[in-house]
Amino acid sequence: MRVVVGGGTGFVGTALTQLLRSRGHEVTHVSRYAGKDRISWDELSCSGLPRCDAAVNLAGENVLNPLRRWDYAFQREVVTSRVETTKTLAKAIAEAEQPPRAWVLVTGVGYYRPSLTTEYTEDSSGGDFDFFSRLVHTWELAAKIPGNITREVVVRSGVVLGKNGGAISQMLWPFRLGLGGPIGSGVQPFPWIHVQDLAGIVSHALETEGVRGVLNGVSPASPNTSNADFARALGSALGRPALLPLPTVVVRAVFGAERGIMLLEGQRVVPKRTLECGYHFTFPDLPVALRDIVS
Ligand SMILES: NC(=O)c1ccc[n+]([C@@H]2O[C@H](COP(=O)([O-])OP(=O)(O)OC[C@H]3O[C@@H](n4cnc5c(N)ncnc54)[C@H](OP(=O)(O)O)[C@@H]3O)[C@@H](O)[C@H]2O)c1
Repeated sequence: MRVVVGGGTGFVGTALTQLLRSRGHEVTHVSRYAGKDRISWDELSCSGLPRCDAAVNLAGENVLNPLRRWDYAFQREVVTSRVETTKTLAKAIAEAEQPPRAWVLVTGVGYYRPSLTTEYTEDSSGGDFDFFSRLVHTWELAAKIPGNITREVVVRSGVVLGKNGGAISQMLWPFRLGLGGPIGSGVQPFPWIHVQDLAGIVSHALETEGVRGVLNGVSPASPNTSNADFARALGSALGRPALLPLPTVVVRAVFGAERGIMLLEGQRVVPKRTLECGYHFTFPDLPVALRDIVS
């Protein structure tokens, strides 16, 4: 299969590209930067989609960059880097002479309203209550393609855990020094997935004919994992105590109140359709996932 991947050079994209290539597929990235096996977003807009069997979009400015202030300019970048790239790919797919058979967009569980008690499946409502939920709603709408030729799949991802990137890369040094701990109260749910499983779900969706619609990209243990459970498990995987909480005021000061919600609150998300469509998780449990990551 030939697969075109927007934003495929990043953390999730690197894992997906390795997995797809190991399964004998050819991968072309759509990127802001020139390089081997890459095309630019302008080339995609002007010359159309290269001949391919499937397309994926993973492009998006890193929301939790602590060096960027949560001001209007950064918020616009967060939105346009996701929505405009998705529109560009969807338009190229719709206009392709031979449209690809499958099209997968990775969004986020920020679609669902944070709650300590409610469990969300792919059928739950959301997308209408704060900046991130409305972003996911608009982003997923941008992926819609008229007609029925191309199968559309949206993977709503939790916090992606893996080596060499994502949330853990920023947490590792304080935890290794024994300075880690829960964020805020620590009781908030922590929806998580190992990067190999997120890549696995995307690959499964590309390769499996009947799969379409929304899949939750979280591990099966995720609905029962709190932020404090995560901190304890990471400390334990590193053989360090993880007792020092990161205070709410510090999170709000660094990230701003609106963005701080991503760290201070969470959703209990169940991968119901993901399991029903036949995906088998490599890392369903947190301690094993974390041991793999810190080894
Ligand atoms: N990591 C997580 O915990 C997590 C959780 C939920 C959802 N997601 C979503 O999953 C997708 C992939 O996540 P990731 O962690 O792999 O992301 P990432 O590594 O931060 O970025 C992915 C790619 O997006 C492209 N990109 C970055 N800023 C851009 C901009 N301003 N305009 C256009 N393209 C830009 C870059 O590709 P080029 O440099 O090649 O252009 C980058 O390699 C993202 O859409 C993210 O929102 C991630």
